[in-house]
Amino acid sequence: MHNTPNPFNLFMMANDIKKRIEQLKSEICRHDSLYYVQNAPQISDRQYDELFNELKQLEKEHPEFVTPDSPTQRVSEKPIDGFKNITHAVPMLSIDNTYNSDELKEFDDRVSKALETLQYEYVIEPKIDGLAISLSYENGLLVSAATRGDGTTGDDVTANVKTIKAIPLKLMDAENAPEILEVRGEVYMPKKAFADLNRLRADAGEPLFANPRNAAAGSLKLLDPKITAARKLSFFAYATGRVSSPLADNHFQTMQELKKLGLPVNSNIKKARNIDEVIKTCLAWDKKKTSLDYQIDGMVIKINRFDQQDILGATGRAPRWCISYKFPAEQAQTVIESIDVQVGKTGILTPVANLTPVKLAGTVVKRASLHNFDELKRLNVKVGDKVIIEKAGEIIPQVVKVVESTGSAQEFKVPKKCPECKAPVKKDDSGVYIRCTNKDCIAQLKEKLRYFAGKGQMNIDSLGPALINQLVDTGSVKSFADLYTLQFHALVQLERMGDKSAENILTGIEQSKTRPLWRFIAALGIPNIGGQLAEILADEFGSLEELMKANADRLLQIDGIAETIAKSVCDYFSDKKNIDLINELLKLGVKPVSSAKKTSSILAGKTIVVTGTLENFNRQSIERAIKDNGGKTSSSVSKKTSFVLAGSNAGSKLDKANQLGVEVIDEKQFIKMIGSV
Ligand code: IVH
Repeated sequence: MHNTPNPFNLFMMANDIKKRIEQLKSEICRHDSLYYVQNAPQISDRQYDELFNELKQLEKEHPEFVTPDSPTQRVSEKPIDGFKNITHAVPMLSIDNTYNSDELKEFDDRVSKALETLQYEYVIEPKIDGLAISLSYENGLLVSAATRGDGTTGDDVTANVKTIKAIPLKLMDAENAPEILEVRGEVYMPKKAFADLNRLRADAGEPLFANPRNAAAGSLKLLDPKITAARKLSFFAYATGRVSSPLADNHFQTMQELKKLGLPVNSNIKKARNIDEVIKTCLAWDKKKTSLDYQIDGMVIKINRFDQQDILGATGRAPRWCISYKFPAEQAQTVIESIDVQVGKTGILTPVANLTPVKLAGTVVKRASLHNFDELKRLNVKVGDKVIIEKAGEIIPQVVKVVESTGSAQEFKVPKKCPECKAPVKKDDSGVYIRCTNKDCIAQLKEKLRYFAGKGQMNIDSLGPALINQLVDTGSVKSFADLYTLQFHALVQLERMGDKSAENILTGIEQSKTRPLWRFIAALGIPNIGGQLAEILADEFGSLEELMKANADRLLQIDGIAETIAKSVCDYFSDKKNIDLINELLKLGVKPVSSAKKTSSILAGKTIVVTGTLENFNRQSIERAIKDNGGKTSSSVSKKTSFVLAGSNAGSKLDKANQLGVEVIDEKQFIKMIGSV
């Protein structure tokens, strides 16, 4: 018999199915949290799979009921085209490192000096060895996820991050979560998942990942979320970024609140009353770190109260209220198989040891820097020797001492010619380094370009070492300026270069034109000038023109600039070749974004909260403008707030200001106050 469906029944059915789907979703979500966040599963894998399959089947029959927060939506079907950029609402800073208890005490001295008579406490937590991620939740739903990138802008890795089951797609108690909640934390690969992955790769004849951090980073940068999903990544939250209303007034409590919202928070986060307790905890963790099922490379120490964090503030790169303690380097024994000589960006020749591969602190080490020929002599290292190596800051392997000399080995001869261009070499003024004397040495040019494009400088991601080698070897690039004249048709003629890659390279180069001034100064490769000094110079002079005009006396007036540095800067800018190069770069459209010079103290003593969208500033530039005029920014409104600068679409902060009777001004008034944009 043919049955005509009764529309009333159909409605009932649909309603029931929708209900069942909702039930299954929240049940699966709860079990994900029990398993991945609370480490206390209540059902077997099989029971979990049954729930999941039932949901999948119902959603297949009723696609109209599929929502983005459904656990079935974690892995998108299709690979993505590439990663878009996401600009962080609040910059993602890095942390300064310490390596011993004296340095921790120095940090504490700085804190106590800045906080004057205030009582303070620390929070101490494991430093997870993975990569930093920012998760944006809106009304309790995960809407995007970004990597740290250069701190200002990162890659949109939402599709891949959604595959990480420890990261909730929907917060618990979502109705009570802040409307906007940015959660920051570390994506990592547990030790077991790492070992399994490398075993699989070895079987497949694929190159192994050196450590869990690289494996995690590599897995998040895949274009196919299905592969990421198989990588078993996990996550710990360790901070909040932009929030529409703060979860608490201190870090420790914020972590507890994040936990309540269903986010994984490390269970080893503890308060410490003073630096002695911090030191004790750090030393204890160095001993027991191997008991954890994820890799940690140190401890992170934070001032607990947010108002005290605000008083301490941050430099451009790292907060002053936070420090990391890095565990001492582990050592290993191996044999020197041969010694190469590398040419650096300023022509310095560095001996590098090729070693019998050995495992050290989670990676297989094959090479180690010997720093310079004096060091080589001091260590008396010869080919064939048994040596002890360790990793400086757990990253750069170095030879510490010879444990057994083979006796038959020949002493290594200091080269008389550049190994790359064969030009004569010379000991430099310091008497330590040996340099290639050829200003046009190809090896130097390659290193300079590599540094120029590097993450801490112009950050041209698409311009990797292999490409730089090709560009230099084919004669297409002879200076930094040539990068900005590269053409699509020339690029696609290079080996293994598709249209898409060529486009990416050109886009990367184009985007680098408007990097902040400090990055540009750093990228020039002026001897002795790294990122931190470049920042000091950019802050002090505000523009390239002003910096170029500065003489040694002027430079020496600046805090943190010593004579060697002043000389280095003056020497660089008095060389006509360098000036020509800079002018050429400017002509080609490179336009470093100047940081305004500290022009006034009109905002001295004022704490300002910025909210909403401004027309003439982004987050970073408004903060800079406030700082440059002597003021301070804060992220939350309190009675102590001097005024709130409100742009369009200002939300809860504006409400709070009105509630507390804090003065509110608009962008026009602000610009009038400071006199310029
Ligand atoms: S706090 C502004 N806490 O270490 C400070 N970072 O070396 C924000 N990291 O970029 C970071 N565990 O990716 C913090 N418990 C922890 C951490 C942690 C690992 C990473 C983080 C940061 C890097 C700095």
